Amino acid sequence: MGNVHVFDHPLIQHKLTYIRDVSTGTKEFRELVDEVATLMAFEITRHLQLQEVTVETPVGPSKSHALAGKKLGVVPILRAGIGMSDGILKLIPAAKVGHVGMYRDPKTLKPVEYYVKLPSDVEEREFIVVDPMLATGGSAVDAISSLKQRGATNIKLMCLIAAPEGVEEVQKQHPEVDIYLAALDEKLDEKGYIVPGLGDAGDRLFGTK
Ligand code: PRP
Ligand code: URA
Repeated sequence: MGNVHVFDHPLIQHKLTYIRDVSTGTKEFRELVDEVATLMAFEITRHLQLQEVTVETPVGPSKSHALAGKKLGVVPILRAGIGMSDGILKLIPAAKVGHVGMYRDPKTLKPVEYYVKLPSDVEEREFIVVDPMLATGGSAVDAISSLKQRGATNIKLMCLIAAPEGVEEVQKQHPEVDIYLAALDEKLDEKGYIVPGLGDAGDRLFGTK
């Protein structure tokens, strides 16, 4: 079963509080989501392999370490995932970026896929699928299935806020996928919104509705 990691770093928790706050406007909301994504990327990249390299300092040779060149891919689930991808790329600028377009039908709450574009060397990459919200889990489950159908084997899921129902669904359908969160909330309401959550992530990021 994949692990669930909730990042309890004080900066992540502080910024998440203001992301949740209904009085936070679009500009600040977007900036905070971007900052939290960067902080989460710092945590999620802890396992990356290093190799020994020697560089010349002004004083002499230094046996140091550099990343061993792991191939990473960041895959935001459109739309709201886009709010997190730049923040991640600040730390891992060489990562390739794929996109999966998915919206939740407001009546059935089932995800509808409308776009997929991934890097060509899917089999060789470690992917981080990103979306601020993991609610029923339908969107994340289908996005991960979409990557797997195209050959991806190494996938992590990173979300700001999850409901227990969404975590359970991802673990059921994709038991090998580790899930990284800033918060695990209480429940879903009757419309499939996370309680207390932050509202509609896409609308708050892009100023729609
Ligand atoms: C939101 C969110 C997730 C999805 C989560 O997207 O960004 O993708 O809902 O819900 P689920 O876990 O129940 O599938 P939405 O469908 O509102 O589309 P948007 O990003 O275009 O606003
Ligand atoms: N999608 C959102 O944007 N927010 C929720 O709370 C649930 C799904």
